[in-house]
Amino acid sequence: RVLSGAGRYNLVQREVTAEILPGVPTRLWTYDGTFPGPTIESRRGQPTTVAHRNELPVPTVVHLHGGRTPATSDGYPTDLVLPAGSSHHHGHGMHDPRAVTSELTREYTYPLDQRPTLLWYHDHRMDFTAPAIWRGLAGMHIVRDDAEESLGLPSGAREVPLMIADRAFAADGSLAYPSLDPALTTRPGVQDPYLAGVLGDVILVNGAPWPVHEVDAVRYRLRVLNASNARHYDLEAVLDDGRRLDLVQLGADQGLLHTPVTHRNLPIAPAERYDVILDFGQVPVGSRVRIVNRLGSGRTRDVMAFEVVREAADPSRVPDVLSDDLPQWERSDAVRVRDFAFGTGRMGHGHGWLIGGQPFAPDRTDVTARLGDVEIWRLVADVHHPIHLHLVGFRVLSRGGRDPLPRDAGLKDTVSLRPGESAEIITRFDGYRGRFLFHCHNAEHEDMGMMANLEIT
Ligand code: C2O
Ligand code: CU
Ligand code: CU
Repeated sequence: RVLSGAGRYNLVQREVTAEILPGVPTRLWTYDGTFPGPTIESRRGQPTTVAHRNELPVPTVVHLHGGRTPATSDGYPTDLVLPAGSSHHHGHGMHDPRAVTSELTREYTYPLDQRPTLLWYHDHRMDFTAPAIWRGLAGMHIVRDDAEESLGLPSGAREVPLMIADRAFAADGSLAYPSLDPALTTRPGVQDPYLAGVLGDVILVNGAPWPVHEVDAVRYRLRVLNASNARHYDLEAVLDDGRRLDLVQLGADQGLLHTPVTHRNLPIAPAERYDVILDFGQVPVGSRVRIVNRLGSGRTRDVMAFEVVREAADPSRVPDVLSDDLPQWERSDAVRVRDFAFGTGRMGHGHGWLIGGQPFAPDRTDVTARLGDVEIWRLVADVHHPIHLHLVGFRVLSRGGRDPLPRDAGLKDTVSLRPGESAEIITRFDGYRGRFLFHCHNAEHEDMGMMANLEIT
């Protein structure tokens, strides 16, 4: 379902029963009755207001990932939307009651004064984000503008958003969480499911398991989002004869690149987005193009397939220059360099995921940055951690002391750090003052403490 043109939407968060696996009823938590939630389309600079009413049995929080949003609408983890019909306004286990504000319906206003791109909205409640997303609280939000539309990229039915997410199901059809079953942990080298976060053995694309999509023999623009809690993918497009189609990357998390980058395969971590051209005009009608995850095994290797069903005219173009408005921050612009270590450690009675040795605390300001300042952040990870900053986009300056990878091109809001890897990112804290977040987007790591406050003053 696509919502566009109105600038104001009412979404009801409610529980529904849907058929995800054929013939099997599954209870889902949804934004307005569907998983994924409705895809919202907005124009750059035209504010969109979304009023969320919570009819779920638990408090919720809505965050627009990648949105340049004032703190009041950014979905801080203790800014709760309480369940309608519940009268218990207190005591949801928050660490700092002073930080808790709550309502039954909440209006989030998004100025969307930002580069056009694929955003997504998802739950962000403190300590409970991962299971809430797992149960269905995720949807897409596309920002468009005239400049991008004038490029002549594939559009209409030939522009396809793909929300990829793995899930595990119990025998009765319910979503199994946590599914800390070592058999489901398929990433090579990862033995301990605790390290991996929660993985599923069914791959859903836009809520459907391993879908097959019919296409014309022309270029398609795929807007790919990894909405999985913890699963990494390394995507490739394979023909039955083993030949691979190039993935021509147009854009990153925060919009179009300067020029397209061609990949044979494209790793995508949780919360990352890639804007990609796949040219089905290069294969004969009748071909099947499978999207495969090179990191998966067995059924988690398969993601989806395209069937090329007919010849058609292709009016689309992929220009050599896609955008000219990427920020050009250089090292010499930075007024500060900060270091952050992402790793595991003791937390309370158990183990947690920490930033600089500390678990998230809503009442502690971890970083104070001045509005307008350019800063370099040096990030280092013990295991795989996709690191996300709210409010701002950043550029990857280096990885492991070397040049960034081809897939680091453009403006990002999530950078995937590999085990033992360090990276430098550069950004300018502009937009809004207030309290924002940065965190690991392995949703289980985030819930287990790997999050910190960023105060912009
Ligand atoms: Cu995808 Cu803090 O968010
Ligand atoms: Cu975010
Ligand atoms: Cu992590």
